[in-house]
Amino acid sequence: MKVGIIGGTGGMGKGFALRWSQNNDVIIGSRDAGRASESAAEYTNLAKEAFGEIKGSISGDGNVSVAKESDVLVLSIPYENIDSVCSGMLSEVKDTCVVVSPIVPMTRTDVGFECISIKENRPFSYRLVSNHMKDKSKLVSAFHVISEKKLINPTLELDYDIFVCGDDKESVQVVNNLIDQIKGLRSVYLGPVELSYLAEMSTPLLLNAMIQNGIKNPGIKII
Ligand SMILES: NC(=O)c1ccc[n+]([C@@H]2O[C@H](COP(=O)([O-])OP(=O)(O)OC[C@H]3O[C@@H](n4cnc5c(N)ncnc54)[C@H](OP(=O)(O)O)[C@@H]3O)[C@@H](O)[C@H]2O)c1
Repeated sequence: MKVGIIGGTGGMGKGFALRWSQNNDVIIGSRDAGRASESAAEYTNLAKEAFGEIKGSISGDGNVSVAKESDVLVLSIPYENIDSVCSGMLSEVKDTCVVVSPIVPMTRTDVGFECISIKENRPFSYRLVSNHMKDKSKLVSAFHVISEKKLINPTLELDYDIFVCGDDKESVQVVNNLIDQIKGLRSVYLGPVELSYLAEMSTPLLLNAMIQNGIKNPGIKII
C-alpha cells in the first residue's frame, strides 16, 4: 500500500515513515520536493539502522504529486495551514484514497495548552479538511494523542490507545491496520467523524496533565 504523508518532513511524518516503512511504500510530501527526497533518504537510513532490512520503501515528492499517488494520505501539517495546503490538493486524490487527519488545533498561552477552536471559536481541524474533500466519507481522524517523540524512537516500548473517528467502516479499517502495525498501539473507535472534536481536544488535556504533574511520556490508555 502507498502511504503518503503530507508535511512528512516534520516530526510526526518522520515517526510515521519509520514505523510504516516496514510494510508499506511511504511517500514523504513537502512543499519542496527536494526537501522531501532528502528527508526520505535520511528516514530510510534510520529505518534500516533500527529494523534491519525494510519490506517497504520511503521516497519523497511534492505534496500534490504525493496526494495523487497515495492509497492513504496522512495530513501531517499544522492546523493554521490546512486551507493553504489542502486547497487544490485533496481534489486530486484517488476516489478510493483514505485521508487521515491527526491535526490538533492547539496553542500554548500563559495558562497552558489550549484548544484554538474553543478559545477563538474557529472550526475544528476535521471540518476544515473535509471542506476540501470530494468524498467526505473517506476522512478518518486519528493519532492526536501519540507524541512524535514516541513514534520516532523505534526502541521505545509503546502502550497507548489511539482514538479513531470516521464515517466509512472500510476507511476506518484501513487506519486500524496502520495502527496495528505500530506495536503497542491500540485503536479505540469513538464514532463518526463528527465526533473528531473530542479527539482533537484530548491533546491539550494530555499536555497540561504532563506539564502540571511532571509526567514523562504521557499517553492515553483506557483501562
Ligand atoms: N508533534 C506531535 O507530537 C504531534 C502529536 C499529535 C498530533 N500532532 C499533529 O500532527 C500534525 C503534524 O505535527 P508536526 O509536529 O509534525 O508538525 P510540524 O513539524 O510543525 O509541521 C509538519 C510539516 O508541515 C509543513 N508546514 C509547516 N509550515 C507550513 C506552512 N506554513 N504551510 C504549509 N506547510 C507547512 C512542513 O513541511 P514542508 O515545509 O516540508 O512542506 C512541516 O515539516 C500537526 O497538526 C499536529 O497538531 C502532532
